[in-house]
Amino acid sequence: MEKQSQFQLQEGHAPLDVMILAAGLGTRMRSRKAKVLHQLGGRPLIAHVCRTAAALTQRPIHVVVGHQAELVEAAVREELDEHGAVFIKQEEQRGTGDAVKAARDAFAQTNSTLLVLSGDVPLITAETLGALIHQHRTHRGRGAACTILTVRLEDPMGYGRIVRDEEGLFQKIVEQKDATPAERQIKEINAGIYCFETRSLFSALARVEPHNAQGEYYLTDVPEILKSDGEDVSVYLHADAREVSGINTRVELAEFERLLRQRTIRRLMLDSGVTFIDPLHTYVSPETQIGRDCIIYPDVHIEGATIIGDDCEIRAGTRITKSRIGSGVTVKDHCVIVDSEIANNCTVGPSAHLRMQTKLEEGACVGNFVEVKKSRLGRGSKSMHLTYLGDATIGEKTNIGAGTVTCNYDGKNKNPTVIEDNVKIGSDTMLVAPVRVGSGSVTAAGSVVTKDVPPDTLVAGVPAVIKKRLNENKEEQRGEEERLKDGALVTQPE
Ligand code: UD1
Ligand code: CA
Repeated sequence: MEKQSQFQLQEGHAPLDVMILAAGLGTRMRSRKAKVLHQLGGRPLIAHVCRTAAALTQRPIHVVVGHQAELVEAAVREELDEHGAVFIKQEEQRGTGDAVKAARDAFAQTNSTLLVLSGDVPLITAETLGALIHQHRTHRGRGAACTILTVRLEDPMGYGRIVRDEEGLFQKIVEQKDATPAERQIKEINAGIYCFETRSLFSALARVEPHNAQGEYYLTDVPEILKSDGEDVSVYLHADAREVSGINTRVELAEFERLLRQRTIRRLMLDSGVTFIDPLHTYVSPETQIGRDCIIYPDVHIEGATIIGDDCEIRAGTRITKSRIGSGVTVKDHCVIVDSEIANNCTVGPSAHLRMQTKLEEGACVGNFVEVKKSRLGRGSKSMHLTYLGDATIGEKTNIGAGTVTCNYDGKNKNPTVIEDNVKIGSDTMLVAPVRVGSGSVTAAGSVVTKDVPPDTLVAGVPAVIKKRLNENKEEQRGEEERLKDGALVTQPE
């Protein structure tokens, strides 16, 4: 980030604006959904490009929208919430030149360098763009009017080709559909990423005509026009073809997904010290952090900005989404954990489901076929078998017997259940919420608890009634403590 802001602050250079083209449908995706909304690594393509763009300039990012403009704008806003975005509507998609031209009013008189990106090139890095901008500004000591990012491809099919003259200087870009057989042999292609001097760009754009095989306004005609104006056009040939290549089909989308996943898992193995039993069959989002000496088994999916501490074991078939997990945690096979927090040394699963801000405090255990929704389990508490805990607050060292259900929904409202410390909830207890079970109490197997249970009490039956007070001595002792706390020195008149 720091390195990037240097580009803007460099003295003697025009400020940097960034424009992202994202109005197209992306016909080759064969989708009703705009291409830039398809997800890569759990985020829309456009979000990847936006994040990179935001690292390059402090000025708001301009995004040209058209197809499903509202959805694309929402995706951009989610990513650029703080940074700021300006949307430009391209009503009809008449080509990349037309897309840029839609921003004429916003830009034509601006003295800036304009970096043009495509919304469908998600892996481009800020470093590469920084190098492109640098070359643009230093070309022949005075800077160029336009610099084109190119790569060489073994199979350049479909891309615009870079035509150079005998001296190897840039001549023009020719699109696949307009290229002669000889031009189609050229392996150097236009990545669709450019730097322009903003005023030169809009001056040339006004002269672009749709006289080509597709009847479109090509942005790719601009460099040739600038050249004929006597302006400098420079080419930045980049080595990593995959980084700058766009996604056009679902096959490419899947390849990128694999690439991104491999990068993430490699980083976690090499830098963070995480063991993956089978890296090829483990799915980890790029935003995930995992601590040292964790072991991740096959077919585990870790999504969103999930954070996992050290020494955890995540067993096969588990999905963890946007959650925070402490150290020394074991998640056994086939669990689903979403938007939840698990403290150190907890055990979860097999086949448990934690969701909606569920919190497990240190050493808590949730076991086989237990669902926990929007609930908190205190330190060392356990719910090991066949249970639903919803909207429940459970204290420390409490045991929830097999088959317990918090009946939290009365058909209209979701009601809370509170279970205090050191409680034993017997197997198959129904807790009809709102309800509270006091500390040290016990519910017998099969109880249907409809009323609050005082502390240290055994209840049983349907509906549950008080069977006896537990630990009378303890009760007295507690009363004594209370009195002493109140500062009363004489016996209470009971
Ligand atoms: C473009 C280039 C081609 C280059 C390739 C690299 C042109 C004419 N061709 O072709 O030289 O090799 O990218 O990937 O520019 N868009 C709009 N409005 C439009 C048309 C497109 O916003 O009217 C947006 C798309 O949403 C997309 C980007 O521009 O994000 C590129 O458009 P696309 O149709 O994918 O261009 P290509 O045919 O791939
Ligand atoms: Ca494309």
